[in-house]
Amino acid sequence: MAQLLYIESSPRKDRSASIRTAKAFIHEYTETHPGDTVDTLDLWSAALPSFDGEAINAKYAIMHGEKHTDSELKAWGLVEKVIERFNNADKYLISLPMWNFGIPYVLKHYLDIIVQPTYTFSFSPDEGYKGLVTGKPVTVIYARGGAYAEGSGGEAFDLQKRYMELVLGFIGFNDIKSILVEPTLMSTPEERPRIMKTAEQEAKKMAAEF
Ligand SMILES: Cc1cc2nc3c(=O)[nH]c(=O)nc-3n(C[C@H](O)[C@H](O)[C@H](O)COP(=O)(O)O)c2cc1C
Repeated sequence: MAQLLYIESSPRKDRSASIRTAKAFIHEYTETHPGDTVDTLDLWSAALPSFDGEAINAKYAIMHGEKHTDSELKAWGLVEKVIERFNNADKYLISLPMWNFGIPYVLKHYLDIIVQPTYTFSFSPDEGYKGLVTGKPVTVIYARGGAYAEGSGGEAFDLQKRYMELVLGFIGFNDIKSILVEPTLMSTPEERPRIMKTAEQEAKKMAAEF
């Protein structure tokens, strides 16, 4: 019995191309993996703690091998809860819109919370940085208004997929699959249903094999 953590980061709900694709994935996943559970984390309704001065002091105290002060402990307790939910999963599905060539700020906020020394990565002068989230697969669904895939001519502007793959690789993932949903805006009304259908079909196929 595996636990799939689904992280949702578009605020557009039923109108979101990334969420629609993720829903097709999850529907197929639950059909083909009846014993597994799906934990959905909607980053727009999750009350994520601020990653503020106290949280940063707590992070640096860990990096420097120092004890936390009371106020750092309090801030860190909230951070730990978010990381615990992330680390408890066996598999991950992340859906995200492209915003200004990168990722939406709620997802950046979440990543700033979960990418932490001793929890999701380690550092030592001998070994350098090492990811600690190992042996787990992740599928990432990227929705974009324009086209950025190989051969589109827009590749250099895609800081959405490049950034996600960099951060996920940094914390240890090496089984990273992606689904592109594009172009959701720079397409004609006639083309849009086909773009969605292709993405949903790909999502279903990948979910069955996930
Ligand atoms: C704030 C904002 C910024 C955006 N920036 C870009 C962009 O840089 N490039 C692009 O191709 N589309 C951009 N878009 C369009 C979205 O990527 C597109 O609508 C996509 O389908 C969003 O995913 P969703 O439908 O799951 O919300 C932007 C949309 C918003 C709301």
